[in-house]
Amino acid sequence: MDFKTLPAPKDGLCALAADALLLVLPAGKLADGLDATLVGVLGAAVDAGDLELVAGRSLYLHHVEGLKAARLAVAVCDAAASPKSWRKALAAGYGLIKGGGAKHAAVALAGAALTPAHAEALVAVAADATYVYRHTKPSAPAAPRLARLSLVCEKTEAKALDAALARGRGIAEGVALARELANRPANHCTPTHLADEARALARRHAKLKVEVLERRDAEKLGMGAFLAVAQASHQPPKFIVLRWQGGPRAQAPVVLVGKGITFDTGGISLKPAPEMDEMKFDMGGAASVLGTMRAVAELGLPINVVGLIPSCENMPGGGAVKPGDVVTSLSGRTIEILNTDAEGRLILCDALSYAERLKPAAVVDIATLTGACVIALGKHRSGLFSSSDTLAEELLAAGERGGDPAWRMPLDEEYDEALKSNFADVGNVGGRPAGAITAAKFLQRFASSYDWAHLDIAGTAWKSGKEKGATGRPVSLLVHFLAERAG
Ligand code: BES
Ligand code: MN
Ligand code: ZN
Repeated sequence: MDFKTLPAPKDGLCALAADALLLVLPAGKLADGLDATLVGVLGAAVDAGDLELVAGRSLYLHHVEGLKAARLAVAVCDAAASPKSWRKALAAGYGLIKGGGAKHAAVALAGAALTPAHAEALVAVAADATYVYRHTKPSAPAAPRLARLSLVCEKTEAKALDAALARGRGIAEGVALARELANRPANHCTPTHLADEARALARRHAKLKVEVLERRDAEKLGMGAFLAVAQASHQPPKFIVLRWQGGPRAQAPVVLVGKGITFDTGGISLKPAPEMDEMKFDMGGAASVLGTMRAVAELGLPINVVGLIPSCENMPGGGAVKPGDVVTSLSGRTIEILNTDAEGRLILCDALSYAERLKPAAVVDIATLTGACVIALGKHRSGLFSSSDTLAEELLAAGERGGDPAWRMPLDEEYDEALKSNFADVGNVGGRPAGAITAAKFLQRFASSYDWAHLDIAGTAWKSGKEKGATGRPVSLLVHFLAERAG
């Protein structure tokens, strides 16, 4: 799909050479400055009760007299034309034309100014509407796609908006990769498969280098917590290190750590059967790191980034780690594994210790870590935890800009109490109260030597029910964060 700006006056929409016009109207009244033809036809639609100028409404009209485009889709956003509301309106309007005969659609916002966020949202909507999972369902029909989308704007806005469209494309590719990998079932998407995907990515970009640590490498390093989770699985664990060298050699990298549990049965602390299939998405953090690295590489961001992905399955079995077992982590600290279903923090703590040797500028881990986070924040906002106010602000702002919001959660020292163990330096669970916070507190102990943040994406990485599938979050947040840091 091709995305470009199309400089044109606001009252020149009727003359645009496109197969379809997708016009977004701010709620309230018909915007000033539109072509008389459009004012006439839309005013009549309002008078007839076919269109209400209320956010969420939309209307399709065919062969409007005086309009060069054969198809007109109108969608209403909020009165302020916020990027979030524009995105929803676009999705509705795009749905009205995507299955039809149009190849080229011109997209316009009436009566309000476009920003880069609007341009990015256009790409995101189009990419979202065209993604179809086919890896294990090749019979699924490909989604209809338009060949060309033109964003109508003022001549003076074109440069900035074209740059935003390009960034949107990079993000969309990253989101698509994250969704695709997370959607693949656990018998296809194994730790080995993730390592192969990382290698494939590195082959396509000269500045991207990959290294995969095997079980024996992890043993030599002393990753006792990671290996304890992996020990009952027949799938070999992989610890993936992906380096993007976009900045000066000496620049300290931003390190992204993604939880890569390709299936979480709970281990000996076995999960109940209902919805256990969804635990194939437990590598959503890893998928978002791979997706972000892809976007960063496509966009050629001038910054150094390292992706770390500890990946394994969490299985029960005769050789499985048992509740009460004590293991020694890479940090040298001992951990009492009270619940084998709290496995994410075990693989992440060793990755966080490993990150120390990279002398990072900042470390952000991304994990489908706790059901408690889903209870706290639902599927709208990811949970953000950070020991650094500056880093937290950066990530929150990136989430807002990227339409991929997070919400900051507390890390008071009082929550540490719950992780005490009589038999090890720390226990791996803190009981039901504040479960998302005690999980973050566990991680924080292993991330004390650098600026650190943790994103709990258990609620945001996938959708359940009829629309079951991965969302590709928080790739957009992460790319915006890195792009801002890259300057
Ligand atoms: N992968 C799960 C978290 C999860 C649960 C994500 C439900 C999405 C939906 C994680 O490994 C886990 O099992 N966490 C436990 C922790 C508990 C044992 C302290 C949980 O949340 O129940
Ligand atoms: Mn678990
Ligand atoms: Zn898990």
